[in-house]
Amino acid sequence: MAQKETIIVIGAGVIGLSTALHLQQFLSPSQQILLVARDWPNTTSVNYASPWAGAHYRPVPGSSPQAIREEKQARRTYEHFRHEASVPGSGVAWVEGVEHLENPPAEYLDERALGNYTHLDGFRKLEASELPEGVKWGVRYNTFTINSPVYCAYMLRRFVIKGGMVKEYTLANVQEAFYLAENVRTVVNCSGVGFGDSKSFIIRGQTCLVRNPCSVTLTRQNSDGTWSFCIPRPLEGGTIIGGTKQVNNWDPNPSLETRETLLRNASKWFPFSAESGGKFDVIRDIVGRRPAREGGMRIEVEKLGEGRTVVHGYGAAGRGYEISWGVAEDLVKLIRAEGLVLEKASL
Ligand SMILES: Cc1cc2nc3c(=O)[nH]c(=O)nc-3n(C[C@H](O)[C@H](O)[C@H](O)COP(=O)(O)OP(=O)(O)OC[C@H]3O[C@@H](n4cnc5c(N)ncnc54)[C@H](O)[C@@H]3O)c2cc1C
Ligand SMILES: *[C@@H]1O[C@H](CO)[C@@H](O)[C@H](O)[C@H]1NC(C)=O
Ligand SMILES: *[C@@H]1O[C@H](CO)[C@@H](O)[C@H](O)[C@H]1NC(C)=O
Ligand SMILES: *[C@@H]1O[C@H](CO)[C@@H](O)[C@H](O)[C@H]1NC(C)=O
Ligand SMILES: *[C@@H]1O[C@H](CO)[C@@H](O)[C@H](O)[C@H]1NC(C)=O
Repeated sequence: MAQKETIIVIGAGVIGLSTALHLQQFLSPSQQILLVARDWPNTTSVNYASPWAGAHYRPVPGSSPQAIREEKQARRTYEHFRHEASVPGSGVAWVEGVEHLENPPAEYLDERALGNYTHLDGFRKLEASELPEGVKWGVRYNTFTINSPVYCAYMLRRFVIKGGMVKEYTLANVQEAFYLAENVRTVVNCSGVGFGDSKSFIIRGQTCLVRNPCSVTLTRQNSDGTWSFCIPRPLEGGTIIGGTKQVNNWDPNPSLETRETLLRNASKWFPFSAESGGKFDVIRDIVGRRPAREGGMRIEVEKLGEGRTVVHGYGAAGRGYEISWGVAEDLVKLIRAEGLVLEKASL
C-alpha cells in the first residue's frame, strides 16, 4: 500500500487551528494532517498572539478592499460562533455588545456604515438620550465573547479526536516543512507574524485581566485616538480590560502606568457592579503582539516547484477571532480549487 500523504499545517493559533479543523472534512482516505507549531494552547509566549486576545466580535466599518474582504469573513464567523456558543465548554458565549465613540471617524459617519452591523442580532443605533456624556455615536447588538485559551484548547482537542496529528517544532524556513513527514506536497502557513515577510509587523497590545465580573462587552473609542474596552471571558474566565495598540513596539514587559490608566478609565466608563466600588482585583497584566500585515492577511497559494505548494494564511492583526472561521473557509476553498484535497466534504 502506498504511503499516506501528509498535509502540514503550521501554527496552532486561532487561524491554524480553525483551518486544520475545517480541512479535516475534505481529506481523502489516503491523506492526513500534521499540525506543526512552536507554541500550543498549553503554553504562553509573547510571540503567540491567540491566548492573549480578549476576545470579542465587533464589526469594523470600512470600504477598502481589506475591509470588504474581512467584512465577508467576519459575517461567516458570526454564524459559526452562533453554533459554537451552543456547545458546552467551547469557551464561546453570547453577550450584549455596546460601542461608544467620542469622535466618530469618517467611515462611521458614512450612512452605509450601519450596513456593516445589520447582520448582528438585536442591532440598533443608540438614541442621543442613551449616550453617556462626551459620546456622539453609539450602537448596541448581541455578539460573542471568547475565552481565547479555552477556545483554542477545545479546537485542538477536536482536531486530535478526529485523527489529526501534532508535532511541537520550530521551523527555520519554508523548505524544512516539507521534510517533517513522508510524502508532503501541501503546507499551510498560519504562522501569525510569520518569519521573513517584509510586509508583516506587530501591534503591541497591553490589557489587564481582572476578577471583577461584567455583563456586557463595551468598546469606547476616545477622542485622543485611544481605545478602552471590557471583555467578559466566558466560563468564569474573569474580564479583560484594555487596551493599547502600539505599532512596532517590541516591549515585552507590561507598564504599570498603562495598567493604572486602563483601570481608571474602566471604572469611569464600564458597568462594573457597585460592590466593586471602582476597585479592581487584578489577576495579571497581559502583553501580546498582534500579527499584522500591510494590506491585510496573506491568503494565497504559492507554487514552489517539484509539486510543492504552500498556502499562506497569516497577518490577521487585531481581528484573528472575528474573522477566523471565514479565513479557514477561504483557505480550504483555495486548497480544494488546487485539487489538493477532495472537492466535496466527506462526512
Ligand atoms: C491584547 C490583544 C487583544 C486582542 N483582542 C482580540 C479580539 O477581541 N478579537 C479578535 O478577533 N482578535 C483579537 N486579538 C488578535 C488575535 O489575538 C490575533 O489576530 C490572532 O490570535 C492571530 O492568530 P494566528 O493564528 O494568526 O497567530 P498566533 O496566535 O500568533 O499563532 C501563530 C502560530 O504559529 C506558530 N509559529 C510561528 N512561527 C513558527 C515557526 N518558525 N515554527 C513553528 N511554528 C511557528 C506559533 O508557535 C503559533 O502556534 C487580540 C490580540 C491581542 C494581543
Ligand atoms: C461598511 O461601511 C462602509 C463605510 O464605512 C461602506 O462603504 C460599506 O459598504 C459597508 N459595508 C456593508 C456590507 O454595508
Ligand atoms: C503542549 O501541547 C503540545 C501539543 O499537544 C505537546 O506536544 C507538548 O508536549 C505540550 N507541552 C506541555 C508543556 O504540556
Ligand atoms: C510562512 O510565511 C512566512 C512569512 O511571514 C515566510 O517567511 C515563511 O517562509 C513561510 N513558511 C512556509 C513554510 O512557507
Ligand atoms: C484614558 O483616559 C485618559 C483621559 O482621562 C486618556 O488620556 C487616555 O488616553 C485614555 N485611554 C486609555 C486607553 O486608557
